Amino acid sequence: MKLSLLPSADGVDIAISRRFRTARSDPIVVTDRDGQGSALGVRTATLELVLPGIGREIGQVLLHRHPFLHPLQSFRDCGIAHFAASDLGHAAIHVKLCARDNYDSKSLSRASNPKKIMSAIIQASPLETFSQEPLPTGDSCVLIIFGASGDLTKRKLIPGLYNLACEGCMNPEFEVLGIGRTPMSSEEFRKKTGEAAAKSKDTRDFSESGWTDFETRLHYMVGDINDPKFYSQLRVRLEEMERNGSSPNHLFYVSTPASAAGPIIEGLGAVGLSRREHGWTRIVLEKPFGRDLESANVLNDVVHGVFDEKTVYRIDHYLGKETVQNILVFRFSNSLFEPVWNRNYIDYVEITAAETVGVENRAAFYEETGALRDMVANHLLQLLALTAMEPPVAFDADSVREQKVQVFRSIRPMRVEDVARCTVRGQYGSGVIDGKRVLGYREEPGVDPSSITETYAAVRFQIENWRWAGVPFYIRTGKRLARNLTEIRVHLKPTPQALFASTPSVIAPNVITISIQPDEGISIAFDAKRPGTQMRTVTVQANFSYQASFGSKGPVAYETLLLDSMRGDATLFTRRDEVEAEWRIITPIEEAWAHLPAPDFPNYGAGSEGPASWHELLKIRGDTADQAIGHGE
Ligand code: BG6
Repeated sequence: MKLSLLPSADGVDIAISRRFRTARSDPIVVTDRDGQGSALGVRTATLELVLPGIGREIGQVLLHRHPFLHPLQSFRDCGIAHFAASDLGHAAIHVKLCARDNYDSKSLSRASNPKKIMSAIIQASPLETFSQEPLPTGDSCVLIIFGASGDLTKRKLIPGLYNLACEGCMNPEFEVLGIGRTPMSSEEFRKKTGEAAAKSKDTRDFSESGWTDFETRLHYMVGDINDPKFYSQLRVRLEEMERNGSSPNHLFYVSTPASAAGPIIEGLGAVGLSRREHGWTRIVLEKPFGRDLESANVLNDVVHGVFDEKTVYRIDHYLGKETVQNILVFRFSNSLFEPVWNRNYIDYVEITAAETVGVENRAAFYEETGALRDMVANHLLQLLALTAMEPPVAFDADSVREQKVQVFRSIRPMRVEDVARCTVRGQYGSGVIDGKRVLGYREEPGVDPSSITETYAAVRFQIENWRWAGVPFYIRTGKRLARNLTEIRVHLKPTPQALFASTPSVIAPNVITISIQPDEGISIAFDAKRPGTQMRTVTVQANFSYQASFGSKGPVAYETLLLDSMRGDATLFTRRDEVEAEWRIITPIEEAWAHLPAPDFPNYGAGSEGPASWHELLKIRGDTADQAIGHGE
């Protein structure tokens, strides 16, 4: 893209209000548009970019004698290091190119006092395009969804399947049989799911014609999962479909409340639908897997009584996120990071999943779940395991899961006194989110007005192994917080400060931030000398952004996981022992909370950073709170 700049009437800033994007590795090239610089006999120019909300950057460019043939210099070469391409993609840029009359190779700060405002051509190379590998094609199968009239089916599963069909990676012999208690015909099911898919943020490129093609694959069957007779009817229906040409492979997807999973599995087993003589059978189980260690054990026993573990796919959709999968690549394919990834260099780790949404229309589910079971017991412990695990020998299901389980087993279960000291729970009161007044949790429809269910949970975990002993892992999650953000921050130890004892600035320790969402990427904060005659330091960032580097975010989590379950790849799913190990960590916390004095809820306002006691948790060791989800950031 080329932007031609002319001096503005008042000779000051030139505003470009078009979107301006560049890949990080491609320089922005600046050309002396009318040869003014050369004509004036000047040799250097100052280029200034002002990005609203980000700040001002000044770079020095060297003029060239043949301005149209040779670019002046590139931003990259000018020492302007910390423009993330995504920053450029979202801001209007003001550019001021000023010529100076002598070449000064010293500090940039001396390159002030510009003489003339010049015209210039700024050219950003087109986005670097990494062509995305085409997704593989799934096996032929009938996907039987229990809970088909529920929220997850509409918001996540059908949009994910629709995307897969549009990308051409759906087997021609793929069909969905939705099971639900709500009476409706297949036509009504298609209409309802179509309306929801059109609205879902997970649907890419919804089109009427695309949907018309896709919806012929959808069927619906009314059924009461608690009625044993229903399972024989289901068997008859599946046999009938097969006689009419449907695939003999069956993928069951249990997307119902945890208490319904047991009866469904037993029902399938009772009519012989859990094993097939020809074709395969698999079962996908949505979280939560039970509500504590005991119920998870019971559920797993029921599952194993009917299905072979190799055919069981326990979903934790965080494992399907590209950024989550990238944690292992970042850690184990770069020799820069792994040598420091341990207690000798790392001070502490923060894992945050903040959401602005409240309980939405899931009050009944949330009242009996709470933030600890809903998010920490699965998604956040998985992030912790990927951050802390040893390298697996291969990227296959068992090798990866083996190493994750070792991490869980190294976390010391907490006693009641540890729970009192090392955890924080909170519940939101009313407040303001995005300028709108929102209700407190206890006022939400369907919630007990004296509920003590936590909508916020923070825990300080210690991993007792050689790599991590003494390094706290702070985990926190909450609903109705100031912003949406999921990230892992790895804080490195501070360096000895004697060398900088007399400098006016404080040297900040390095921080590696793995941003899971919404701005997917990785950034590294480090210190640099601030230009000038004094020895002053400033913290700068090296950024990698998915959007800027790859131009797209890749498939959404449910797409990846649905496709993997159709193809029989269980790497991104959790194994029985993993789930039980997670509950072994979480159950003592739940039990201690039940014994400890009832908390004084609500203890944080909607739209805030969460309960103030989060800071007490960090003070146990004197760590500093990153205001990552606070106001005004
Ligand atoms: C689900 C929880 O598993 O994850 C929800 O039940 C939560 O309460 C959701 O909102 C968060 O997922 P994501 O992908 O939006 O971070």
